[in-house]
Amino acid sequence: MSEKILIVGAAGQIGSELTEKLRSIYGTYNVIASDINSNNESLVKSGPFQIIDAKNYDELKNCITGHNINTVYLMAAMLSASAEKNPMSAWELNMGSLFHVLNLAKDGFINKVFWPSSIAVFGPSTPKVNTPQQTIMEPTTVYGISKLTGERWCEYYYQKFGVDVRSLRYPGIISYKTLPGGGTTDYAIDIFHKAISEQKFECFLNAESTLPMMYMDDAIDATIKLMQTNKDAVSLRSSYNLAAISFNPEELANSIKKYIPEFEIQYKPDFRQDIANSWPNSIDDSFARNDWNWQYRYNLDSITKEMINGLKATFQNQQPL
Ligand code: SER
Repeated sequence: MSEKILIVGAAGQIGSELTEKLRSIYGTYNVIASDINSNNESLVKSGPFQIIDAKNYDELKNCITGHNINTVYLMAAMLSASAEKNPMSAWELNMGSLFHVLNLAKDGFINKVFWPSSIAVFGPSTPKVNTPQQTIMEPTTVYGISKLTGERWCEYYYQKFGVDVRSLRYPGIISYKTLPGGGTTDYAIDIFHKAISEQKFECFLNAESTLPMMYMDDAIDATIKLMQTNKDAVSLRSSYNLAAISFNPEELANSIKKYIPEFEIQYKPDFRQDIANSWPNSIDDSFARNDWNWQYRYNLDSITKEMINGLKATFQNQQPL
């Protein structure tokens, strides 16, 4: 059966690049992009687009039945820092939308679901280095609590109702095309914008805050790889640990200084420091490697080059490195 895909939250950081990639694979008209508003003009013009509030079951169902959708990528979410400020809205969006999509799959309207989880499912009592797939999980953030709960429901819907749901615990994702919003790992994107415009950056995490990170192209590859894997090879129905590299703000600043020597960084930790402190430093993703041959491609130096070149070309029309 051919893929007919709906992306919910397609205007977001990951959703926008996922839409582009899925359209290049399955054809523009087989991939419907949706978001809560039509503010992202280039997305709206790039192919089929529909306004959908992910919290609204009827809007989701009408789009799915109207377009004969068989696969949903549910990318709408409130991230960690925003969720701390709006706990109830974060819970309603992150959990409500997941239940709608899982129920639509259970009731036979769709065949396959992708739903992102996060390193935020781990907490201060989790082993920090090479965090295993199965370990102590006591998240202390609103976002982490919603993602861990969501993982349990995904597995439940698979076990009880056979719902083909697949998920990844994304690390911090670095990209230049669409800005992220409200995350703790967002500093690793903002730093590049400031490096090429003002050559200085005030970081809301301290120099030593090591977190798992990944370049967007790797994240998109992993997502599509997992979704294309034969159903029987998907041994985890909660969510897969997924890793590329780990670095702290100081290491990232040093990597940028190789190309922009005058760049300066200052540290002014805020409430997001507590969030970062509760998350792992690095992740063991051997289940993803074994089940569907996961392997990342971008290291710190190649990410730095891609980011600087991408931002220069997009915003400053400058020559690449
Ligand atoms: N990047 C996310 C955040 O910082 C983690 O999943 O909230």
